[in-house]
Amino acid sequence: MRILGIETSCDETGIAIYDEDKGILSHQLYSQVKVHADYGGVVPELASRDHVRKTLPLIDKALKEAGCTADDIDAIAYTAGPGLVGALLVGSTVARGLAFAWNKPVVPVHHMEGHLLAPMLEDEVPEFPFIALLVSGGHSLLVEVQNIGEYTVLGESIDDAVGEAFDKTAKLMGLDYPGGPRLAKLAESGRTGIYKFPRPMTDRPGLDFSFSGLKTFAANTLRAEIDEANDENNEQVKADIAYAFQEAAVDTLVIKCKRALKQTGLKRLVIAGGVSANTELRAKLKELMTSLRGQVYYPRLEYCTDNGAMIAYAGLQRFKAGHIDDAAQVHPRWPLEELASVVK
Ligand code: KG4
Ligand code: ZN
Repeated sequence: MRILGIETSCDETGIAIYDEDKGILSHQLYSQVKVHADYGGVVPELASRDHVRKTLPLIDKALKEAGCTADDIDAIAYTAGPGLVGALLVGSTVARGLAFAWNKPVVPVHHMEGHLLAPMLEDEVPEFPFIALLVSGGHSLLVEVQNIGEYTVLGESIDDAVGEAFDKTAKLMGLDYPGGPRLAKLAESGRTGIYKFPRPMTDRPGLDFSFSGLKTFAANTLRAEIDEANDENNEQVKADIAYAFQEAAVDTLVIKCKRALKQTGLKRLVIAGGVSANTELRAKLKELMTSLRGQVYYPRLEYCTDNGAMIAYAGLQRFKAGHIDDAAQVHPRWPLEELASVVK
């Protein structure tokens, strides 16, 4: 069985073809970073226009690379939400158009379920049940996963998502969009113990997160420490703030993961979404799971951020469960817990 996956929920056009026996046959990605760089963030209308330009040519390229034609494709999976409505509409419209032309079924996929299942594309896959930490630009979620489509959200951010906090803090420091990975890079030259940032919401019970205070803390520290007359000092101040910010964000996520594992008695942890590309976060969660005699699973770096492979994979699971929707609707807001199980 072969699935074409289409991802257009934000600023990346991702296309992939997944074969049930052979795995990913082709994986194409076009990042719109340059389109949005001048604006310091994603401009929804520009994102939609760029998806319009890129989606079909990338599908052609993917089919060629996979050495197949429309006849070899069993279903077309697309990201139906959550995401930017205009961007989602491009993917869904292309999916519906191709489905009509090729006479194939259409499978809507939840973007965060795509992220959550991305580690299944690796050699070593987690068994169910497990805890998933989903951390992206739009979401920070701790989820108990009993099976595909059986999700209990244990905690989520009450304000900014962690990726959003990375991006906003990076912007404050004058780093270009997308700021998250740049802030992480800057933190490498930061020194330990110079600034101490808070670990929000860790001093009370519960698994929810709050990250907007960290960004404010970074803004205040920056204001207090920057010396207009001393550029060299300022570069080090920024690196030290980046270090302290990242340390606090990662620590907070680790504390909450530990709590979720304790609460549920589970020993397997999956991390996925754009922020799971963060080296510090990966290392600290690995340390945690070693100390708990458990195991951590994460996707390879190219499948951490938005991509078509995760949509094709999740699409195959949904297709096998009969979850098709030829109307190709979109859901800009779509709680993960609304999804149906693939086994019940
Ligand atoms: O999953 P994703 O590609 O898109 C969304 O669904 O939002 O996640 C993008 C987010 C951005 O906020 C980006 O800054 C963040 O992931 N990100 C990182 C790193 N790489 C990507 N944040 C911290 N460290 C990184 N290495
Ligand atoms: Zn994403």
